[in-house]
Amino acid sequence: MSEPAQDLTANGPLLTLRYPRAADAPRLFELASDPEVTQPFSWGPYEKQSEAAEWIASLSRNRLDGLALEFAIADPADRPIGIISLLEVSLRDRRGVIGIWLGREFWGSGVGDEAEALLARIAFEPLRMERLGAWVDVENHRSQRAFERLGFTNEGVLRSFQRHYDRPHDLVSYSLLRAEWVGSAMAAVAVELMGEAPAAFVCGPRSAG
Ligand SMILES: CC(C)(COP(=O)(O)OP(=O)(O)OC[C@H]1O[C@@H](n2cnc3c(N)ncnc32)[C@H](O)[C@@H]1OP(=O)(O)O)[C@@H](O)C(=O)NCCC(=O)NCCS
Repeated sequence: MSEPAQDLTANGPLLTLRYPRAADAPRLFELASDPEVTQPFSWGPYEKQSEAAEWIASLSRNRLDGLALEFAIADPADRPIGIISLLEVSLRDRRGVIGIWLGREFWGSGVGDEAEALLARIAFEPLRMERLGAWVDVENHRSQRAFERLGFTNEGVLRSFQRHYDRPHDLVSYSLLRAEWVGSAMAAVAVELMGEAPAAFVCGPRSAG
């Protein structure tokens, strides 16, 4: 199988979600070499530009295999300011999990909200999902607050759910259901979708009932 002829892209009022490309490596290296940005993750901070380049090179395969659908969050000059992702997708259960990081200078600027709105549109419309989840470290209060403000529900703590460098982490589980998204501020954001969604992420048609 090969990728669709035209990449899936989402244009919002200010930002665009598009697939990361090889030319983004210097910029992603610059943004994610900040330990504060990658602190919640099992990777990083980047120490070499080649780490960003290798990650970008892996993305097409991951899209084909349904492992991860990663987007650069691009500013009006098409410069990446962070990454937003749809991970751990179950087509049968019509759900996926959001991952997001922004360069440190963009925290608190509101761009995270627009990026989340663009990804939610992709998940609930062309991908036909019914549930968007997020797992946030119990110590990552900033990210917890951001998801709650967007209307995600705190479902409780998943104990020792992830291991980073072999250290266990407790995560707060968040979710937003399609019916909740429909009436939310995120769904009111104007979004233009272009291109074709990768087949491995598209849930089947909903049954009539
Ligand atoms: C998570 C992330 C995308 C959120 O984007 P952001 O632009 O920083 O978030 P916002 O500023 O929109 O919202 C943060 C909220 O937390 C609040 N906040 C900030 N620091 C806080 C703290 N230490 N404790 C509690 N709340 C805090 C802010 O006041 C704001 O709430 P408000 O809008 O009600 O005032 C961004 O911080 C980031 O990239 N962090 C590093 C990677 C990361 O943690 N990713 C998420 C993994 S699940």
